[in-house]
Amino acid sequence: MKKLIKLALVAIIGLSLVGCAPKEDEVVYNNALEEIIGTGKITMVTSPDYAPYEFIDPSKSGQEQYVGADIELGKYIAEKLGVELKIEALDFDSVLASINTGKADFAISGISYTDERAETMDFTTIYSNSENSCSGILVNKENADLYQTIADFNGKKIGAQNGTVQMAHAEDQITDAVMELVSNINDGVLNVKTNKVDGFAIACSSGEAFAQANDDVIMATPKFIVGGDSDGNAATVTKGEVELLEKINEIIAEVLELGLYSKWEQEATEYALAIGAE
Ligand code: ARG
Repeated sequence: MKKLIKLALVAIIGLSLVGCAPKEDEVVYNNALEEIIGTGKITMVTSPDYAPYEFIDPSKSGQEQYVGADIELGKYIAEKLGVELKIEALDFDSVLASINTGKADFAISGISYTDERAETMDFTTIYSNSENSCSGILVNKENADLYQTIADFNGKKIGAQNGTVQMAHAEDQITDAVMELVSNINDGVLNVKTNKVDGFAIACSSGEAFAQANDDVIMATPKFIVGGDSDGNAATVTKGEVELLEKINEIIAEVLELGLYSKWEQEATEYALAIGAE
């Protein structure tokens, strides 16, 4: 009897092992980094509405159309990993969501580190502070004089990109702001131009790029109080992908040591200006 049970057990275990076993020639990867190297591909998500970090060159198409300092960083990371980069353009809130759910390998999209975000995704080392050091409000040039302090925006209609740090600044620092959220920053800038909103909350660097490309908008003089826990831009990966995170951190360390990011940022600023990128 005992022997029979033993035999039955062996059979059951054997069967269940067969059930779990990979099919022939189906490779099992233990983590995202292994899969990236194994398949030779890495997917990066970004919201390309944010010159000079990530924007679209309308004279190009396909993967080539995505340009900017963050795009250069993404390309560099893929090149160092020895794999092919696939850039997927999404709205900013979907960029964050696709990392949270593991749909994409990594995100580079001017993403500010925040403690709250770090609960649901893993952040690499910070690669730039320029975007976070100053945030303000883009306004229609004809109204610019009305705004001398942030309090002058109280009760006004304020646009922001959904899910951004600038959205939070506007909500926290403007009393009774009527928020008009957009998924794509280009729509937000259009709303400023057509006076559908009184202002659009945006990082100064990107706001200046939009102001240079659009004669009728300008960054208002008063700026948000920045700081708190948002102190720099980083790439993000799905929580727990430590091998990939470490590898990207090594590459970012090299980028910083060589001063590459600030060079890309400067080049992208000139590029955006030259093509009037939005
Ligand atoms: N740094 C800000 C944030 O993380 C804004 C980023 C917006 N990025 C973009 N590609 N539109 O919330």
